[in-house]
Amino acid sequence: MPVQDTPGAKEAAKQSTKPLRSQAWFGRQDKMGFYYRSFLKNSGFPQDQFDGRPVIGICNTWSELTPCNAHFRTIAEHVRYGVLDAGGFPLEFPVSSLGEVTMRPTAMLFRNLASMDVEEAIRAHPLDGVVLLMGCDKTTPALLMGAASADLPAIGVSGGPQLRGVYRGEIIGSGTNIISMSEQLRAGEITLADFHEAEAAMNRSAGSCMTMGTASTMASMVEALGLGLPENAAIPAADARRNLLARMAGRRIVEMAKADLKPSDILTRAAFENAIRALAAIGGSTNAVVHLLAIAGRVGVELTLEDFDRLGRDVHCLVDLMPSGRFLMEDFYYAGGLPAVLRTLGERGLLNREALTVNGRSIWENVAEAPCWNEEVITPFEAPFKADAGIAILKGNLAPDGAVIKPSAASPELMQHTGRAVVFESVEEMHHAVNDEALDIDASSIMVLKHCGPKGYPGMAEVGNMPLPAKLLRQGVRDMIRISDARMSGTAYGTVVLHVAPEATAGGPLALVKTGDLITLDVPARALHLHVSEEELAARRAAWVPPAPHAERGYQRLYIDHVLQADRGADFDFLVGRTGSPVPRDNH
Ligand code: FES
Repeated sequence: MPVQDTPGAKEAAKQSTKPLRSQAWFGRQDKMGFYYRSFLKNSGFPQDQFDGRPVIGICNTWSELTPCNAHFRTIAEHVRYGVLDAGGFPLEFPVSSLGEVTMRPTAMLFRNLASMDVEEAIRAHPLDGVVLLMGCDKTTPALLMGAASADLPAIGVSGGPQLRGVYRGEIIGSGTNIISMSEQLRAGEITLADFHEAEAAMNRSAGSCMTMGTASTMASMVEALGLGLPENAAIPAADARRNLLARMAGRRIVEMAKADLKPSDILTRAAFENAIRALAAIGGSTNAVVHLLAIAGRVGVELTLEDFDRLGRDVHCLVDLMPSGRFLMEDFYYAGGLPAVLRTLGERGLLNREALTVNGRSIWENVAEAPCWNEEVITPFEAPFKADAGIAILKGNLAPDGAVIKPSAASPELMQHTGRAVVFESVEEMHHAVNDEALDIDASSIMVLKHCGPKGYPGMAEVGNMPLPAKLLRQGVRDMIRISDARMSGTAYGTVVLHVAPEATAGGPLALVKTGDLITLDVPARALHLHVSEEELAARRAAWVPPAPHAERGYQRLYIDHVLQADRGADFDFLVGRTGSPVPRDNH
């Protein structure tokens, strides 16, 4: 069902009998009513705006420091038109924005902080519903986590991917080609001028990364979870239909507010199962594992790493998109986008068809007729782009609480491999060593990086796809097994084992690995084994000294003290769950 067919007014029939929440502010005819209304009137709002119509927050992550969300003022305007169309009262407000490319040490360090900002802003204000404007990687989970904990009617609107990158007539993809071109530069295959020219060619329009990286994966998760309108994931930012989607979302949230249709009604276990299968079918980013676990934790859905392995196992990767394949999000949209993928899953019994979505219809009602216009981009289930390509969950004495690998981005010949560990105690040591001609390493070695997990970096940075040693690059080596407690960019690729839990800094077995140890990666057996005896590991543990925390005070200290491990979504222990939206007390 295309976005322009989104139901609107007829859903108003399902009105809740609950009084609108905003009336506890604006419906008062006393001192506090004067107070709450009066100051808003300095924007020119007439008295009739406070007559009991739904007040809709437009939660905006616009920021010039988040270039992928820099067009969000325009999107917010289209949401505003939609809210007004439907008789609502729109009020835009800013929340923390998380720019993946600009924030150091990693935007992930601030995901939980932003989620708190969102949750508290929604709860504290006189809102009946909220439209969540999300784009760059971490803005999506942060807003979904916060909105889930506040549990006020909410609809997600993603900013959309950029147009294809085009460099000297060749299609290039966000992130994916940064990695390949930086390796070409290091190998002396291209010049610095070529490199600079490609930078501008890659990012030639508004929007988020246009590969199936984390931003596009999470926009797909918004749609698969039922929290966004059909087609939310793939309409390019520069396509007028992105503004149409924003306008329809503005209309729809007014009806959702009247019907009191909340995130907890939509974010059921069935919805998460749909999202996990969609994640496998799109060959999505490993980062979605951490984010979906955290979102599920907010709404009380018991989701585990094993669910990703079990549910993703029967699912083929259907889309031939970078970083695993050839095409980009723009092509995905023209081919039919996520609705076409969900339809295929539904026809194979791989979709919980009854799961409710924000437009008031089931997910199956939304996608049952979805066309596929290009079977090169969205392949048939019988002839998939990559078979059995769901994210695999590894366990073993090196990762007792699990680790993840994305087989669709890995080298088939490395999926069962035993090699000698070459260990780096820090990311700085690794960066120095990979350019050291004397480094004792060959293509069969396994690179192991420690102290890049949630507590260790801190923030679990995207450094798990370590650059390959320069001397091996010159020999033509293009992939090696890499193991760490870090994450990797959704635009990256390679045989990279990530999210090892517990992390090294928390005393996980990863902390005890030494250069020269043998490690076996066996993806078909879902195993990650360190060939060191229990006695030797016990001796190493007895001698192990935990590293000093990175911060003594401030937010980073709070983060280190309260962040959960990757297998629990790296949320804060005190943020798991939801409080809902009641605020009984006046402010004066
Ligand atoms: Fe913002 Fe990729 S850097 S979406």
